[in-house]
Amino acid sequence: VARSGGTDRRETARYARRVSWSELNEHGSYVSDGVKIEAYRRAFANLIRPDDVVIDMGCGSGLLGLLALEAGAAKVVAVDSGPILELARETFEANGFGDRVEYRRTHSAQLTLDQPADVVICDQIGGFAHEVGLTRNVRDLFDRGVLKPDARVVPDSFDLFVAPVSAPESDDPLRPWASAASGFDFGPFQRSAANSPFRLTATADWLLGPGVPAAHLDARDEDKITFRVSSRTQTAGPVTGILGYMRAHLDPAHGVSLTNDPTDPGRFRRWHLYHPVEPAIHVEVGDEVTMSFDVNQRGHLSTWQVTVNDEQRSASQFFGDFLDPLVMFDPPGDSVPPLSRTGQCRRATLDAIAAGTPFSRLVELVAGEYADQFRTADEARRFVRDMVARYCERT
Ligand SMILES: C[S@@+](CC[C@H](N)C(=O)[O-])C[C@H]1O[C@@H](n2cnc3c(N)ncnc32)[C@H](O)[C@@H]1O
Repeated sequence: VARSGGTDRRETARYARRVSWSELNEHGSYVSDGVKIEAYRRAFANLIRPDDVVIDMGCGSGLLGLLALEAGAAKVVAVDSGPILELARETFEANGFGDRVEYRRTHSAQLTLDQPADVVICDQIGGFAHEVGLTRNVRDLFDRGVLKPDARVVPDSFDLFVAPVSAPESDDPLRPWASAASGFDFGPFQRSAANSPFRLTATADWLLGPGVPAAHLDARDEDKITFRVSSRTQTAGPVTGILGYMRAHLDPAHGVSLTNDPTDPGRFRRWHLYHPVEPAIHVEVGDEVTMSFDVNQRGHLSTWQVTVNDEQRSASQFFGDFLDPLVMFDPPGDSVPPLSRTGQCRRATLDAIAAGTPFSRLVELVAGEYADQFRTADEARRFVRDMVARYCERT
């Protein structure tokens, strides 16, 4: 793929091939969302100062960094763990901002800066503010001094809302598992799905009762989110789920915010977080639906309970995607874990790299001493190449 503007075309082309179609679709939807762009423009007009160093955490296409530079930031540190950073780099350059941007292809948890930054901008706000791990990443940057103690965070905080909804059968994420189409019993999947929040886009006609304010979340605060709130139904029907959505406060002092409230015509383009209620509970007009949530942001673990009259349903991710033994793994403090063969291979490779071993020798070493780890010599070579790409400075 020959394109202009790259600092190293061959390398850029290699990375460009690895930006997936789903990422291009996702970021295409962000850069064309006029509501989101206008809100960030308004917020940055007040928040960004001329000598600001701004971290664009998870910059993706670079959209928010471009807006911060347009608003006059001295410098943007564009951080993204994915190959998309190489396309963002070309985009900053193409827009004439190349000399005011520093690029870091890394997860924010590995980010270090010579001087702490004044602002962090980040769009990892999901559809219900907490589910993509925003607060953990922001907290980490403060704790490690990558941000000044009084640094501005955009978005700064969130209001969380919940509403009892009835998903049409065609959109209900539980229905496929109950389908008789195959003649097989997919009960285990159905149970897992009933205990998993889903990203989907609801419309206003799904709501059986009004969405109610449930919690306020500060972007710097990764504590648990717990609430118990009620909504009185205005439509009769089956409550198939609880919809979570939010209002993100970009610049609270000037009232600049973004919402994905399905009933708000001025909403931005963002999914909602749907929490199944299984089996559905039928409600009549005027019933009170009580919704209790307990969200452990550190463990990415949500538990929810829904009560209508004397009927109650409980669900928890603990019984859904948390069944994976890798996720459940929690060794006792006094255990002495032995390094696996795979771990030994990684360690030997890193030791050899640290000792200044040439690339071809690294491949020989790995293919020889750890031949049991690879099916072919080429697989060993690719392993070493990935270790170098991941853990070595680019020369
Ligand atoms: C939701 S997109 C945000 C895109 C962009 N900021 C925008 O508003 O259009 C998330 C991007 O952040 C990256 N990402 C998510 N969490 C990250 C983290 N903690 N550190 C570095 N990159 C991250 C992903 O690779 C992805 O490209």
